[in-house]
Amino acid sequence: MTSSLDSDKPGVPSPIAGKKDYKQRQEDHDLKPTKGRGWFKFQLLFGVVGLFAAFLLARKPAAPLPEAYALCSKENDKIYLVDDKNTQTQCIVVEGAYIVGTGSLDTVRGNWSKLRPSQVALEVRFIKPGAIIIPGITDSHAHILEYGATQQLPLEGSKTIQGIHFARRLRRLSLSSSTDAVARVREYILSTPEIYNDTTKLITGGGWDHTVWPSSTWPTAADLEADSVIRGRHVVLQSKDCHALWVSSKALEISAPFPDSVEGGVIVRDGNGAPTGTLLDNAQDLLKQPELTESDLLRRFKVAVRDAHKYGLTSIHDAGLNPKSLAFFKRQAETGPLPIRVYGMSFFDENEPYWGNTSRPIIGGESDRLSARSVKIFADGALRTGGAALYEPYADNPTTNGFMRLDPEILFKFIPMFLRDEWQVNVHAIGDRANGIVLDAFEASLKGANVKALRPRLEHAQMMTKADMARLGKLGVIASIQPAHAISDMWYAEDRLGPDRIKSLYAFRSVVDSGAKITLGSDFPVESMNPLAGFYAAVTRQSLDGRSPHGPDGWFPEQCLTRQEALRGRNDNRPCIGKRADFTILSQDLMSVPFADILATEVHATVIDGRPVYGNI
Ligand SMILES: *[C@@H]1O[C@H](CO)[C@@H](O)[C@H](O)[C@H]1NC(C)=O
Ligand SMILES: *[C@@H]1O[C@H](CO)[C@@H](O)[C@H](O)[C@H]1NC(C)=O
Ligand SMILES: *[C@@H]1O[C@H](CO)[C@@H](O)[C@H](O)[C@H]1NC(C)=O
Ligand SMILES: [Zn+2]
Repeated sequence: MTSSLDSDKPGVPSPIAGKKDYKQRQEDHDLKPTKGRGWFKFQLLFGVVGLFAAFLLARKPAAPLPEAYALCSKENDKIYLVDDKNTQTQCIVVEGAYIVGTGSLDTVRGNWSKLRPSQVALEVRFIKPGAIIIPGITDSHAHILEYGATQQLPLEGSKTIQGIHFARRLRRLSLSSSTDAVARVREYILSTPEIYNDTTKLITGGGWDHTVWPSSTWPTAADLEADSVIRGRHVVLQSKDCHALWVSSKALEISAPFPDSVEGGVIVRDGNGAPTGTLLDNAQDLLKQPELTESDLLRRFKVAVRDAHKYGLTSIHDAGLNPKSLAFFKRQAETGPLPIRVYGMSFFDENEPYWGNTSRPIIGGESDRLSARSVKIFADGALRTGGAALYEPYADNPTTNGFMRLDPEILFKFIPMFLRDEWQVNVHAIGDRANGIVLDAFEASLKGANVKALRPRLEHAQMMTKADMARLGKLGVIASIQPAHAISDMWYAEDRLGPDRIKSLYAFRSVVDSGAKITLGSDFPVESMNPLAGFYAAVTRQSLDGRSPHGPDGWFPEQCLTRQEALRGRNDNRPCIGKRADFTILSQDLMSVPFADILATEVHATVIDGRPVYGNI
């Protein structure tokens, strides 16, 4: 990828983005770049002092990891195998990409010398005191490239649209943590040579929230055009709740003309009726977006992978691959193993010819880490926007029951076909009616099928009647749930559903007790990627700062999952002998620290196929 950045075009700064280039670019665009030199010396001095301090503080680099090693805790039970017996043990032994032993230090040493008598003694490494090892963390419902699109330019936490003058100066002290949204866009452009040198490139980012800005007004294209670095570029910025887009003049221009009105959406306009640069809900679809290039996709993927490794994830189920993103993952997997395991669900579109028998499921090979053996079907919409299909009308809007996004007949027709052709079928279902209909379709389709191998899933499974919860377990349909949604929605959900039906929403305990299998995910970028947030939400049902509409004990606390269940729901590759060595090392014992300390857990290392992809061992 880097080679495509080599440019000797006049006037274009060197693409090798050193601090100096960045600084230079910053000054090229500043209105008053005069104090550049002094400032630069000041920064240089700090840089040198900083480097020296870092050198002194740096720990001895870890010795290279041998092909085979034992990883142990000094205490004897800090490795959670999450097997059927919930075994906790002292050591795992890794050879190449596989786990070849587990047990106490004495046992694994003894076994090693028996197994490999001619080889050198087994190298033993220890995790830090208090640390634990858990199976590599899986996110079973997420959106990888969409996360990358918003997080490559994160606007979350920006406190204003446009900083005031003195904030601009302060910003120069810490270039990367501007509190001004426009400044973050500017900084992103300046620090990304590939984008800086090509003013036509689409710039995407997201996470802004106008309700926390002092003005509380919608941001405008003019706010972006006011900055000399951004002016004239094609910018599309998604809001934190994904219900609004803030775009530049170029983006508006490309998509013009706009209709007078949009069903289910708003084009924000000025006094003269001209679009100002914010598009709400369905109006977002009016935006014409250019084709993404390979380097756009790769940039998104790298951002997502970087964060995933940092959070301890070793495997992600992508809950919505379109043909282009699937093709991208395939190309990446062909050039070498993906940096993280990706399990893909391909979108079903009823208007396209059936593809379940023309393309075959991809089943992750030894060397590529890509599987795509699932089809994703949407049954209904979302609760927040009133699109979840309910049996009874919404409590706060009795004129509607929400809606199914497809004719139920389609489910009865296509689910059996996909199952026949050996696809895992994952159906998005939120409302009680949607879940009921999908379970009817599964019930009709699964007779005689190998349910254990096909593992059909309900994605979200948010609201279900008691009878349907029981059906889940009976049919062998897995509930794919995202505990973080519960603590996001708990503040408004009762208004929407009323005091009785609310009990059937996010009723995790009831789902598990009725015999259903669960798998847990985050739905990032809709919620945080941090699996600790989901773990905390599942076991406390409190917001991350310890609150809930029902007080500090949590929202319907009787529906909490146990820590054991929350841990078990997050891995599909458990470290047992003969399996791949995917595991995560955490700084403290998540299974026993007080609830309030869970979120302070740090990831010490993330290991895929026996080698750390984050941290070291
Ligand atoms: C940016 O750099 C790449 C690599 O040299 C080059 O192909 C591309 O033309 C450059 N873009 C612009 C606008 O200079
Ligand atoms: C010892 O090695 C054998 C052969 O690989 C394996 O079957 C057994 O489970 C190992 N025992 C332990 C405690 O690691
Ligand atoms: C795939 O299935 C469709 C629908 O059942 C059928 O019409 C088509 O002939 C099949 N194609 C192949 C290659 O099996
Ligand atoms: Zn999703």
